Amino acid sequence: MTAGDAKLRMAELYGQLARHGRLYHEDDAPVISDAEYDAMLRELNELEGAHPEFAGADSPTKRVGGAALEKFEKVEHEHPMLSLDNVFDEGELRDFGARIDERLSADSLEKGGFVCEMKIDGLAVSLTYEDGVFVRGSTRGDGRIGEDVTENLRTVKNLPLRLKGVMPGKLNVRGEVFITRGQFAELNRTREENGEPLFANPRNAAAGSLRQLDSKITASRGLSMFLYYIVEPEKHGIVKHSDALRRLAELGFPTQEAWAFCETMDDVDAFIEKWRERRFDLDYVTDGAVVKLDDMTLWDRLGSTSHAPRWAAAFKYPPETVYTRVLSIDISVGRTGALTPVASLEPVRVSGTTVQRAGLHNEDEVRRKDVRVGDRVKVHKAGEIIPEIVDVDKDARTGAETPFEMPSSCPVCGSQAVRLPGEAAVRCPNRSSCPAQLKEGLRHFASRGGMDVRGLGDSLAGQLIEKKVIQNLADLYSLTVNDIAELDRMGEKSAQNLIDFIEKSKKRPLSAFIAALGIRFAGERAADILAANFGSMETLRSVSEDELALVDGIGPVIASSVEAFFNDPANVKLLARLEESGLSALTAKSDPAVNAPRKGIFSGMTVVFTGEISSMTRDEAEKLVREHGGKATKSVSAKTSLVVAGDNAGSKLDKAATLGVRVIDEAEFQKMIDLL
Ligand code: IVH
Repeated sequence: MTAGDAKLRMAELYGQLARHGRLYHEDDAPVISDAEYDAMLRELNELEGAHPEFAGADSPTKRVGGAALEKFEKVEHEHPMLSLDNVFDEGELRDFGARIDERLSADSLEKGGFVCEMKIDGLAVSLTYEDGVFVRGSTRGDGRIGEDVTENLRTVKNLPLRLKGVMPGKLNVRGEVFITRGQFAELNRTREENGEPLFANPRNAAAGSLRQLDSKITASRGLSMFLYYIVEPEKHGIVKHSDALRRLAELGFPTQEAWAFCETMDDVDAFIEKWRERRFDLDYVTDGAVVKLDDMTLWDRLGSTSHAPRWAAAFKYPPETVYTRVLSIDISVGRTGALTPVASLEPVRVSGTTVQRAGLHNEDEVRRKDVRVGDRVKVHKAGEIIPEIVDVDKDARTGAETPFEMPSSCPVCGSQAVRLPGEAAVRCPNRSSCPAQLKEGLRHFASRGGMDVRGLGDSLAGQLIEKKVIQNLADLYSLTVNDIAELDRMGEKSAQNLIDFIEKSKKRPLSAFIAALGIRFAGERAADILAANFGSMETLRSVSEDELALVDGIGPVIASSVEAFFNDPANVKLLARLEESGLSALTAKSDPAVNAPRKGIFSGMTVVFTGEISSMTRDEAEKLVREHGGKATKSVSAKTSLVVAGDNAGSKLDKAATLGVRVIDEAEFQKMIDLL
C-alpha cells in the first residue's frame, strides 16, 4: 500500500470509527457488530504503526492503550487542584453557610443559592483541550504537581477525545475518574479467579487502574468519568456553576445527573436527605454531597485556605456498619474449582440493600478473623458494594459458637479437595464433571463477553446441569425447545428465545469464543490479544507456550495456562464437538471481520454545509461527499453526522451544537478532501 493509500484508508477508518463509537457510547444504538468495530480498529492500529506521521491525537485507537511508559512525567497545575473541607451534619453545614454570610456581609454581598452535587468516590483529574481536541490530562498529585496520565485517560471510554461543536483555543476542565459498581464487581471477580489480590474498594481500583504505566491495562479496566468544573470560567463567559455544568454537558462531557440548584440551606438539607438512600441506586459510588456556591464571581472574593476553597464543602454521609449474626458458614464452588467459605447472615439492611451473605475468601481469612457460626458480627460494604464481616463481637460469645473447619472434600461432587503449595485456595480437582464447576463454566461460557446467550441465568444453568441435560459445554448446542420448556418457569416462548440466542452465538467472533472458554488467567483482554495475533482457532491451538509468551500483553502465566488448556484431552474433545456444531470462530480460517469491505471516506455519513466555502462551490462540495459514499443534505437533524462550517455560518451551527453533531471548519474539510 502506498503512503497515499494508507493515509486515505486511515482517514476513512477514522471517520467510521468515530461515528460508530458515538452510536455505541452516546446513542446506545450501534449499527455494526463489536467484531466489525474491532476489525476496523485493528486495521487502523496497524496502519498507524506503519505511518505514525498520519496518526491524529484524537485517534480512536488511543482508546485501547499504547506502548508502556517508563515513568509518568510530572505536570505543574496552572491553578492548584484543591481539596474540600468536610462537614458531617446539618449543624456544621449551617456553620459553613454562616461563615460565607459573614465574609460577604463586609462587602454588603449576598451569597445567593447553592449547587449540590453528589461526591463521586474516585480521583480528581485535570484535562486540557486545544481547539476542541483532548491533548493532555493529569492526576491531582499533591494539588500543585500531578502526573501526566494522558495516554491512560484516552482509554476512559466516556472521555470525549474531541468536543462537540466549536471550542477554539484552550479549555481546561476537571472531574473525577471512577469505576462503576458493575465494572468493579467484574474486575474483582476476575482477580479472585486469577488468584490476584482484590481491590478493597472502587476508589482504589480506579486509582490503581489510572496509574498504570501500561495504558492497555488501564483500557482493560473500563474506567469512567464525570466532569464538574471549568477552569477560568469567566474566559468562557460563564458566571454560574450551574451554567458551567450545563455547558460541560453541551460540549459532550459526561456530567452527573444527580445535581440540583438549591436556593436556601433548607433546600440543601432536602437534597442531602433525598440522596441519603437513593445514592445506592446510582451505578457509581458516592460518599457524600458537594455543596458549592452557584455564583462563581463570589468564589474569588471568598478565596481558599491552603488546601480547600471557602465557597464549597463536602457533606459526608456516615459510613454504614451494622451488627448481625452468622447463621452458617457454607462452601461455594467456583468455576475454577476454588472452595470459598461464605457466611450466611441473619438478613440486615446496609448501604441500600438487604445483606444475607458475606464472602470469607478462604480458609486463612476465616481463621484470621476467627469467625464462628453463631457469632455476632459487625458488617459493612467495602466501597459500599461488597458485604464484608469487619469484626467479631467476641464479648457477645456464649460458648455455643462453632469454629469453622474447611471440608476435605468438594461439597458438591465429593472429590478429595487439594490445596496447592503457594495457593490460598483449596480446590476441587474434578474439572471435567463437578456439577458446580460445570454450572459456573456454563454461565461464563454464555456471558455477554463470551457467547452472549441471553437468558441463561443461574437458575436455568443449575436445572440443566442438575437434570443432566447438559453434562458438557458442547451439549448446549444440542438443546431442543422441548428440553428447555420442561424446566421450571420456562414456557415454550422463552425456550425458543434461548434456542435463538444459542443459534446466534455460533456467529460470535474468535475473541469472544476464546474468552468464553474460561481458560485460567486468560480473561477478555487476553482473549482479544490472542484473537488479534493468531487470527484463527487452528493457529492458536497449535502455537507453543514460548510463542505465546512472545506476544505483547501475554505473560508467561497466561501462555502456560493457554498451552495447558489446549493440550488437555478433555478440551480437545470439547473443541471437536463444538466445531461439529458449526461455531464460526472454530470453522473460519481467519476472522471474517478483518477483511471488511473498503468504502468511501464519507461512507455512511450525512453531511451538511453551512456558511461560505471559499475553495469550491456548495454544489461541488456536496458532489464530492456523494461521490465518496456520503449523503449531503440541507438541514441539520439528529441524523446528521458532520457539519462543515464555512465563514459566516448561521443557525445551522447552533442546531448542530444543540444536537451534539460534530462540526469541522473548511480547513479540516480540505484536509479530508486532500486525501482523496
Ligand atoms: S469540586 C476545589 N465536585 O472530592 C475543589 N469535587 O474531597 C473542587 N469530588 O478533590 C472539587 N465529587 O476529587 C468536586 N462533584 C464533585 C466531586 C468532587 C468528588 C472529589 C474531588 C476532590 C475531592 C475533595
